[in-house]
Amino acid sequence: MSNSSSNVVVPGRRDTGGGSQATPWWKSGVVYQIYPRSFQDSNADGVGDLPGILTRLDYLSDLGVDAIWISPFYPSPMKDFGYDVADYTGVDPLFGTLADFDRLLAAFHGRGLKVIVDWVPNHTSDEHPWFKASRSSRTDPRRDFYVWREGRAGGAPPNNWLSTFGGPAWTLDPPTGQYYLHSFLPEQPDLNWRNPEVRRAMMDTLRFWLDRGVDGFRIDVAHRVMKDPEFRDNPPNVGQGQLHKQLGDFDSQLHLYDSNHRDVHEVYRQIRRLLDAYGSKEPRVAVGEIHIFDLPELMAFYGEEEDELHLPFNFTLLKAPWNAAAVRRTVDAMEAALPKEAWPNWVLGNHDESRVASRLGEEAARAAMLLLLTLRGTPTLYYGDEIGMRDVPVTPEQVMDPWEKRVPGLNLGRDPERSPMPWDSSAHAGFTPPTAHPWLPMAADARERNVAAELRDSGSMLSLTKALLRLRCRHPALHLGSYRPVASAPTEVFAYLREQNEDRVLVALNFAAHPVTLALPEPARALLAGTHAGVRLATKEEIALRAHEGVVIELAR
Ligand code: NOJ
Repeated sequence: MSNSSSNVVVPGRRDTGGGSQATPWWKSGVVYQIYPRSFQDSNADGVGDLPGILTRLDYLSDLGVDAIWISPFYPSPMKDFGYDVADYTGVDPLFGTLADFDRLLAAFHGRGLKVIVDWVPNHTSDEHPWFKASRSSRTDPRRDFYVWREGRAGGAPPNNWLSTFGGPAWTLDPPTGQYYLHSFLPEQPDLNWRNPEVRRAMMDTLRFWLDRGVDGFRIDVAHRVMKDPEFRDNPPNVGQGQLHKQLGDFDSQLHLYDSNHRDVHEVYRQIRRLLDAYGSKEPRVAVGEIHIFDLPELMAFYGEEEDELHLPFNFTLLKAPWNAAAVRRTVDAMEAALPKEAWPNWVLGNHDESRVASRLGEEAARAAMLLLLTLRGTPTLYYGDEIGMRDVPVTPEQVMDPWEKRVPGLNLGRDPERSPMPWDSSAHAGFTPPTAHPWLPMAADARERNVAAELRDSGSMLSLTKALLRLRCRHPALHLGSYRPVASAPTEVFAYLREQNEDRVLVALNFAAHPVTLALPEPARALLAGTHAGVRLATKEEIALRAHEGVVIELAR
């Protein structure tokens, strides 16, 4: 948020409502994810870049988020658009230079905004010098940096493990006659985290960015780093386990042995020690991408002594059916499962998921935004969701995502949610100049649904998001307070209280497509925000909610 606006609290200087002044920024703040290819192009090549992100600093500051997380921008052959890293300590020329990154970091810090970078420990690119050396011979000193195994009798792969992106997780490398493991693409060989030298080398890559001043890391597929040391076959999945969406053949197994071996926790304790050592003044945060829906297993990533990740991503809302009972159950289950001092977090979208406005519809997406920004815990907001971006379909000729290319037709492709950000009504919506060709198609309605248009419209999704971010910032109850569901709410409504000392707020969301009246558990003092225009409190005792309407109400103290 721009520091010159009148009714604005400067990020990083929140009112903690008499609570501890030492509340770390990653608890009270809101994280905004930038997929750098798709945010802002500065050099007319049709691909977003770091200088482009810098030109949007005013927008992000004014929006009112506290931190950005930038998906990978490291040198990469871009087989998985940067999640195949060829050098952990550089910037791909497509995205700019290291000097561009330093400039970006300094400018964001100058506005009180934090910067989280992506870190991809499970695998490198096959063009990383470590892998080139590793595959060069069985006796190369780097051989054991990766996971090499003999095939089974008859030349079959070493075991039955599958790649998430389709096909076996093993590829035979004929010159040395062994198979290497790749949990994703063959061009993304898995690092061998059981090798202490790998650990040392990867810790050095964290130090590199910490020394430059980054505020934390989003750790890619954090749970997959450690596998069964005996390489046992995974058992078949006969209906027991499933993630939040169907992943094709990958779902045919229970992933008992290719992921989440208990030794993974020692890795995150080591990383946490490193971050804590750097974070004596300003805490550095570890966010983990963990696709685990068994809550005790997920909670384990906070650490037995809460000495591992600060924020293991909580994707449970992606799995919840969109009705009041299921969403409340999901939130309550998370609240109940959290270790004592652990801080929750919530996610409704990212670069791997269909857009929330496409999954739920435009109206429900407004209520979902209100939910995301008023639950207890750190929200991560995916770029474009603040303007209600929807999935942008791609034709077979336009497909970019390697997953869709390898497993076509199953709707696994992630291009639709990666469409470039529409900024204004010019050609290519200000993402890239009119003469350039955006790397993915712009939304068909980009000339109408874009940042500039929504900034002018007080009823837009963007205006709602900004209002909610400001409200969250001003109210300690919202950014720090406790959570208590309202048991007496009608079945269509999910209502909860957020409280921090004298600050007391009620949130109520009508999930139904018809109006519902909610009797307030306590008298209202003021209406603070709502998803629909013209909402008002007729009495202090109840509120009439329209279809899909959400409200935030201040209660009498
Ligand atoms: C998870 C990332 O979010 C996804 O985009 C990527 O393809 C895989 N990890 C592999 O790195």
